[in-house]
Amino acid sequence: MGRTPFSAICFSVKFIKRESFCPSMDLFEAMIERRSIRKFTDEPVAWGDVVRIIEAGMSAPSSGNLQNWRLIIVTDEAKRKAIAEASAQQYWMGKAPVLIAVCSDMDKMRKFYGIRGERLYAIQNCAAAVENMLLAAYSLGLGACWIGAFDENAVQRVLENPDSTRIEAIVPIGHPDESPDSPSRYSIETLCFFEKWGNRMKDMPGVLWDFDVAGKAIRKGRKAGSSLSHHSRHLIEKIAGKIKKIKKK
Ligand SMILES: Cc1cc2nc3c(=O)[nH]c(=O)nc-3n(C[C@H](O)[C@H](O)[C@H](O)COP(=O)(O)O)c2cc1C
Repeated sequence: MGRTPFSAICFSVKFIKRESFCPSMDLFEAMIERRSIRKFTDEPVAWGDVVRIIEAGMSAPSSGNLQNWRLIIVTDEAKRKAIAEASAQQYWMGKAPVLIAVCSDMDKMRKFYGIRGERLYAIQNCAAAVENMLLAAYSLGLGACWIGAFDENAVQRVLENPDSTRIEAIVPIGHPDESPDSPSRYSIETLCFFEKWGNRMKDMPGVLWDFDVAGKAIRKGRKAGSSLSHHSRHLIEKIAGKIKKIKKK
């Protein structure tokens, strides 16, 4: 079984990278280290950062490239509070300086893909946009959370959405005032099958060795390296290079 080439999983999120926050953040680091943030400081979010996050969302893949997402940026305090109330009283959401409501243009989806477009692709496309936005926010040093628990009709009223749209998700964004621990994740053996449903590999981490062992070691090394001297960083990069070579064999 072929291994994923290291170069393929290590490309940088260049267009959303901001030097002051994350000089060497790669995509894998963002995917693994990102957490849902539900507590924010009072600091406002720079408009430029909001734009970059939106750009990241709009760069997501979509069925037939329909780009059915429509993004409503909400900064008005009364509206943010009303949306938080309508989101199962998750009042912490109202404290985020920016909420982005990810809506879907349903007419477009129905027209091109019928019921499948309406019931599946519309949600999937918007979900891809949401994940991109969460990763972009994280890479900019901001906190964000995916909100799915809300009374859709109530939020539609606040945002004056037409009936031809659905609100798929809400993303509060702000400067994080917490750094939650990573929640537990199921193991690779539990969630992955080989060749057919239910066929578990006995030694999955052994087969996909790079993810559990070398990948983590390299990421940790890089993280520590960012606060070290040039010499130490060079040393860590050298060790990382050696690990990569071993992986390739
Ligand atoms: C479809 C969806 C809906 C979610 N809805 C909410 C929500 O309403 N409120 C909330 O606090 N978190 C919500 N979350 C965030 C999850 O609770 C969170 O992603 C999960 O606990 C894993 O934590 P992590 O994001 O830090 O990895 C939602 C996530 C998804 C994907």
